[in-house]
Amino acid sequence: MTKEFLWGGSTSAFQFEGGYNEGGKSTSTTDVRNTPEGIADSKVASDHYHHVKEDIELMANLGIKIYRFSFNWARVIKDDGSVNEKGIEFYNTIIDSCIELGIEPFPTLYHFEMPQNLVDRFGGWKSRKCIDAFTDYAKACFLNFGDRVKRWGTINEQLIVSAASDLNGNKENNSQQKIIDMYTMSYHMSVAEKKVIKLFRELIPQGRIGPVCTMQIAYPQTSKPEDMIAAANAEDFLMYMFLDMSVYGTYPKSVQNYLKDLGLFYPLEKDKELLESNTSDFIGLNYYTSTCIKAKPDEFDDSKLPPFYRNSFFTLGENKELKKTKWMEYGIDPMGLYLGVRKLYEKYRLPMIITENGYAMSEKLDNGKIHDIQRISYLDEHIRICEKLVEEGYPLEGYCPWSLFDLVSSHQGFSKRYGLIYIDRTDQDVKECKRIPKDSYYWYQKIIKNNGIIE
Ligand code: BG6
Repeated sequence: MTKEFLWGGSTSAFQFEGGYNEGGKSTSTTDVRNTPEGIADSKVASDHYHHVKEDIELMANLGIKIYRFSFNWARVIKDDGSVNEKGIEFYNTIIDSCIELGIEPFPTLYHFEMPQNLVDRFGGWKSRKCIDAFTDYAKACFLNFGDRVKRWGTINEQLIVSAASDLNGNKENNSQQKIIDMYTMSYHMSVAEKKVIKLFRELIPQGRIGPVCTMQIAYPQTSKPEDMIAAANAEDFLMYMFLDMSVYGTYPKSVQNYLKDLGLFYPLEKDKELLESNTSDFIGLNYYTSTCIKAKPDEFDDSKLPPFYRNSFFTLGENKELKKTKWMEYGIDPMGLYLGVRKLYEKYRLPMIITENGYAMSEKLDNGKIHDIQRISYLDEHIRICEKLVEEGYPLEGYCPWSLFDLVSSHQGFSKRYGLIYIDRTDQDVKECKRIPKDSYYWYQKIIKNNGIIE
């Protein structure tokens, strides 16, 4: 690897912090969502709130150069719209401790959770009022942390957060209206992102800011032309729709036509200028696997699929070529990362950084240890791809595996773990959340020390 390559690691606030009602924090959508019986929620999570110094020392001991985390919107802004000074203090401790130990803090502004009161007051992202609320929140972050933080993520996985009602708080039950809401919310998020970038240029002119996307590399199920077109449509609707907005301020043609048919034409004339200027500086990539897509058969029940798969242009297929596990149900595909970075580079010509990549397992201590060889092998295969990309000249700036610590998975609690550091708790019993480095931690420590080479 080049000597500038940023070895890092990732977490997110609602999955890692806990302390959900401490330090003046107001209620987040993820604090009040219905978690299935027996599955851990975000209230305690990994209890990072009470382990900050210890956690950052573990990161420094691992050797990471960059820490990708997120601010919790409801910890920064109170329900009355004012800034929560205790929340600022909390994030100052994280930022200062990182810097002191030689780690660059790399926060994302919006990673899945948002203040519940914005949903109660005006429906959250369904309303344009949320654009201003998000801008005010971002401004508070820029003013308080911008003197030390120079690299920022805007929105994590807009695809997921605009679709998942438990994250965005949408109570709509009608499935057609839900689809319309998803596109409306996503559009408002894009406008908000641009307003925030505009402000960023004024407040932190020497900084860099960009979106974090769900990298959706779509393979056609077969070489039938219909499946090829379906795969191209899927990339438009699942990935380019958000990135084209972040970079060019418009949607792919296929998405524009679809939205017109739904009676929604975006971008609106009044937002055009804002959207087309204020472009991103880099793209953050969350990559776990590729996606297999097929043309939608005539009689096909898609009612159980997420809303972004409910259209007539494509549906989910199955890639029989990839090895799958219980929690990696779409398969393991390092080459998909290679293809993805190449495709995105040719389309956007922007630097990229891997903000998430990881292997999920159910794990239990074995004589006080975790021997996670499958995770090591997964991470190793993906790191080799990063090496190849860097050697071939693609501007890949760093690699942040998901996740540094075990944390609450987005929907399966602690029964599904990704961490390099074990958190000793279960879904039902939070115990003391003791931190225990896994074998993968010691392995990654060597990788970082030798800049990618493992003897
Ligand atoms: C990404 C998210 O979608 O994938 C993370 O940014 C999430 O927040 C991760 O945890 C893994 O997904 P899951 O559903 O297994 O937690």
